[in-house]
Amino acid sequence: MKIGIIGSGRIGGTLTRRLRALGHDVTVANSRGPESLGDLARETGATAGTLEQAVEQAEVVVVAIPLLAVPALPAKLFEGKVVVDANNYYPQRDGDIAELLDRSLSSSRWTAEHLKGARVVKAFNNIQAQHLMDQGRPSGADGRIALPVAGDDADAKRVVMELIDALGFDPVDAGTLDGSWRQQPATPVYGTDRDADGVRQGLADARP
Ligand SMILES: NC(=O)c1ccc[n+]([C@@H]2O[C@H](COP(=O)([O-])OP(=O)(O)OC[C@H]3O[C@@H](n4cnc5c(N)ncnc54)[C@H](OP(=O)(O)O)[C@@H]3O)[C@@H](O)[C@H]2O)c1
Repeated sequence: MKIGIIGSGRIGGTLTRRLRALGHDVTVANSRGPESLGDLARETGATAGTLEQAVEQAEVVVVAIPLLAVPALPAKLFEGKVVVDANNYYPQRDGDIAELLDRSLSSSRWTAEHLKGARVVKAFNNIQAQHLMDQGRPSGADGRIALPVAGDDADAKRVVMELIDALGFDPVDAGTLDGSWRQQPATPVYGTDRDADGVRQGLADARP
């Protein structure tokens, strides 16, 4: 599958490595430009690209950048794309965003409002990058970590759930984008590496 990854840091770099290891055709982009991505490209066989190159050809685009950088993304480019939102809102890093501070909006809904027409799916936001790197297990293995997947587009969600399974994690349907606050920071499933039953219980137990 052609996958574009926006962000080459802890999460974007990890997904570049893991998705390339599965044989996907990955183009990765960051804010400094392709010339800064030579080492990652050589290590993984991914293509170092511009943001436009990473998005234009992609069937799936992962966005793994500080949330404050989302409003400046060129929304038109993302129209119709399956966009995996791995981001979290941290006020100390991202500044005050009123709708997010009072939690009246999930950060993925806020992202989807900026990327109008994109098929946004929230995933990978609740697992530490290092665990995403080295804790994948075959399907059915004891202790397989489960990851919640939220979105409004059933087909987009299915595509992302299949990728998660291939990466070695149990995908758990976490409902809609509006409900994706249930997997945001400070919820029971955030950074706690639960199994599938544990994730379902954690999503149900989450309190606004
Ligand atoms: N770290 C984790 O374990 C973890 C886990 C789950 C979710 N998350 C979330 O995932 C997101 C990324 O976190 P991270 O830890 O991977 O961050 P990070 O290591 O600081 O990397 C951020 C990446 O975003 C890129 N970037 C920034 N602005 C950009 C823009 N306008 N266009 C393209 N690329 C841009 C940076 O590129 P340059 O270096 O070129 O500026 C860098 O490659 C955050 O929202 C975070 O909350 C993190």
